[in-house]
Amino acid sequence: MIDVLPPEGVPADKVLAELRDLRAADLPTHGGRLFAYVYDSALPGLDELAMSAYALAAHVNGLDPTAFPSVLGLENALVGAASRLLGGGPGTAAPDVVGSVTSGGTESLILAVKAARDARPEVARPRLVVPTTGHAAFAKAAHYLGVALDQVPVSARTLRPEAGAVAAAIGPDTVLVACSAPSYPYGVVDPVAEIAEAATGAGVRCHVDACFGGWTLPFLRRLGEPVPPFDFGLPGVTSISVDLHKYAYAPKGVSVLLHRDADLRRSQYFAFAGWPGYTMVNPVISSTRSGGPLAAAYATLRHLGEAGYLALAERTLAAVRGLAAEVSGVDGLRLLVEPESTVVCFVSTDPGLDLFVLADELTARGWHTQPQLSYGDVPANIHLSVTASVAPRVVEFGADLRDAVEAARRAGPVPLPADLLGMLGALAPEQLTSDLVAGIAAGLGLDPAAAGRPPERMAPVNALLDAAPVPVRERLLAEFLGVLQRPAY
Ligand SMILES: Cc1ncc(COP(=O)(O)O)c(C=O)c1O
Repeated sequence: MIDVLPPEGVPADKVLAELRDLRAADLPTHGGRLFAYVYDSALPGLDELAMSAYALAAHVNGLDPTAFPSVLGLENALVGAASRLLGGGPGTAAPDVVGSVTSGGTESLILAVKAARDARPEVARPRLVVPTTGHAAFAKAAHYLGVALDQVPVSARTLRPEAGAVAAAIGPDTVLVACSAPSYPYGVVDPVAEIAEAATGAGVRCHVDACFGGWTLPFLRRLGEPVPPFDFGLPGVTSISVDLHKYAYAPKGVSVLLHRDADLRRSQYFAFAGWPGYTMVNPVISSTRSGGPLAAAYATLRHLGEAGYLALAERTLAAVRGLAAEVSGVDGLRLLVEPESTVVCFVSTDPGLDLFVLADELTARGWHTQPQLSYGDVPANIHLSVTASVAPRVVEFGADLRDAVEAARRAGPVPLPADLLGMLGALAPEQLTSDLVAGIAAGLGLDPAAAGRPPERMAPVNALLDAAPVPVRERLLAEFLGVLQRPAY
């Protein structure tokens, strides 16, 4: 265990060596072998540029734009670029788009919900309508902000909601309707035009969550892909979120929340002068904000330019098509849906082929995928977020996938004890105490002494979660995290 506050300071080179050691256990952020969490352009020099830019602005504080006008300048530049890419700005149907830079997609979504809620103070019990495939951050926003969540199911075939079902879910207390372009789980674009029209008809705001793919869809469209309308070109779209730390390939901590005009944005702000300290006006949740992520994003966008993003989208598209073909060629696997953006998602068609075991077999071969639990009518599946860095790896992945499938078949599905399954179905979430969860973990062969380190084989954990009802899943997740998050005194 490293004492991070030693009695005497440690030399800089040793500190950096320790950090490198810590990082050695992480999944590889570069190299096209990790299909979630990271967005790797694989362009030589881009990271170095972004890091130099980050360092230039790391200690600057966006808290007060009059003290640090550079942050304001960067923010306005990034918002302008995002707006232009997404159908706003001069000469468009949405010439007055404004926005803010936030720390990430979750913050952008929380603020979109807050702005919508606070614009309707007469609604005592505000509600948010969102398809079940809407990002979990909408549920978090609803939870944090005291807004009720109305989830609209999606079709098991199209993985999108019916626009009519979204319209039917809108009621007098609905303050916001949200949809995705594309959704994270399956990478499909919701019927935004119809949903925005229904929202307009009901006099309700419509937010398009383009956090994941908002930066790629316009370039995929330029490459000839059939991307449906989803941006400010649609009159009913009142706000859009797009993450620069995803497909704009900027380092983490930067997303943009756009509003169609400044009137719509007003209720996003928080100003407070009722205390003796500095007068505070915050556009976003954080007050102190480093200029680092903004400067890094600025450098990334400016260096790549539209031509750079088009080339990256082309490479990504080739990787998506290649991976989809590899998956389709494996007996026992099926694409959940024909890829529409940058996600490849597949299911098992063979009861003897457990996808959670397959994911572990892929991990053992150096490929890190993202298993998704069954939900509603959609079975458990494996999600691949595909970035430009994957393009040269497709053939290698295909060979390892075939090998991993054979190994997973040989290993067979994870056996969950029948009494455990019975208990999961019968338990109320609050009955799941830490001790009980520790017992379950031990029963699954998860080493309690390994607390502080994630388990090497995730299949038992995933199988357990998959077998549990949603509220029990949530409780188990929180308890598992609690086991990991402990300082080693
Ligand atoms: C569609 C979508 N919205 C929101 C988010 C949340 O973004 P973040 O993790 O940056 O908070 C994500 C993250 O994957 C996403 O895919």
